[in-house]
Amino acid sequence: MTNASLTPLGQPKLAQPLQIGTVQVQSRVLQSPLSGVTDLVFRRLVRRYAPQSMMYTEMVQASSLQHLREVPQIMDVDPEEHPISIQLFDSRPDFLGEAAQIAVDQGSDTIDINMGCPVNKITRKGGGSSLLRQPEVAEALVRAVVQVAGVPVTVKTRLGWSDGEITILEFARRMQDAGAAMLTLHGRTRQQGYTGEAQWQWIRRVKEVLEIPVIANGDIVSVESALRCLDETGADGVMCSRGTLGYPFLVGEIDHFLKTGERLPPASPVQRLDCAKEHLRALGAYKGDRGIYQSRKHLSWYCKGFPGANQLRDQLSRIESVEDGCEILDRAIAQFESNPAKR
Ligand SMILES: Cc1cc2nc3c(=O)[nH]c(=O)nc-3n(C[C@H](O)[C@H](O)[C@H](O)COP(=O)(O)O)c2cc1C
Repeated sequence: MTNASLTPLGQPKLAQPLQIGTVQVQSRVLQSPLSGVTDLVFRRLVRRYAPQSMMYTEMVQASSLQHLREVPQIMDVDPEEHPISIQLFDSRPDFLGEAAQIAVDQGSDTIDINMGCPVNKITRKGGGSSLLRQPEVAEALVRAVVQVAGVPVTVKTRLGWSDGEITILEFARRMQDAGAAMLTLHGRTRQQGYTGEAQWQWIRRVKEVLEIPVIANGDIVSVESALRCLDETGADGVMCSRGTLGYPFLVGEIDHFLKTGERLPPASPVQRLDCAKEHLRALGAYKGDRGIYQSRKHLSWYCKGFPGANQLRDQLSRIESVEDGCEILDRAIAQFESNPAKR
């Protein structure tokens, strides 16, 4: 593919809103649900650069809400935070329906059902990607949520259980028939987990048979990969995942390019470390000690691709307090600032 063809200008659809049932979203670049990552704090950072993008909470187990008196923190949504979707998983339609009502009360603009998680703990109980092997249950889940939610219901799934069992064409049709308003397709099988390449060619095939919007997911890590994926799949949008770990600028960079044809400069090391500091402070304030512990992995993700990143990552992976982390980050930032060539 030539560089000239890597522009969105020949594809006017990409600069237009994304229609998810009754909900219109002014961006075709979405931030994926990431368990342990896409809490309120992370989403605020992503949204600063991508204010119009649809974002997802971490997945929430519907049955876990059954005996709770209060809505758990994982379902927190900022009052001004739109568009937002709370992602649910379970294998029981009744639990999922009840959880969807709570999610809508929280402000969720759509309800997303997770049918892709490959983790044994989830699939053993009939949730996540195991639904690919039980399409009739998956259908019942969608129907149950559509009936009660009053907002569009979407599905996020994979290609199938394994390379020998790619069932997505039939499965996707069934989800559409059950009332799903959009399908996000991670181009890997359950067996692949998070390894190997996403098989975008299957996303194209699904796009060709569905009427509802299809969002492509898997290996979208840059403007280039997003454009290549949109070109190869004909998808209605792209969803970024691991590419946003330690880089909450990604969704905004791709969104900006699709809308303007103009490339934003990548965030510099100093911008990334400033962002890391803000992330740490906010997590500490929001979750206390648990937030500091969780921030260690985020901080290490921010440390890549610049001189001294390994050493910095090592130091940050052991912090015990917000102050510890900020001190280490301030020192690293000062070093960059005293050496403009590295900034
Ligand atoms: C740490 C981590 C947590 C994830 N949590 C969720 C989740 O809660 N819900 C979900 O649908 N997918 C989840 N995923 C899958 C991603 O949303 C995405 O589908 C997958 O990583 C493929 O995209 P990528 O190749 O760009 O990373 C998770 C992935 C990772 C790495």
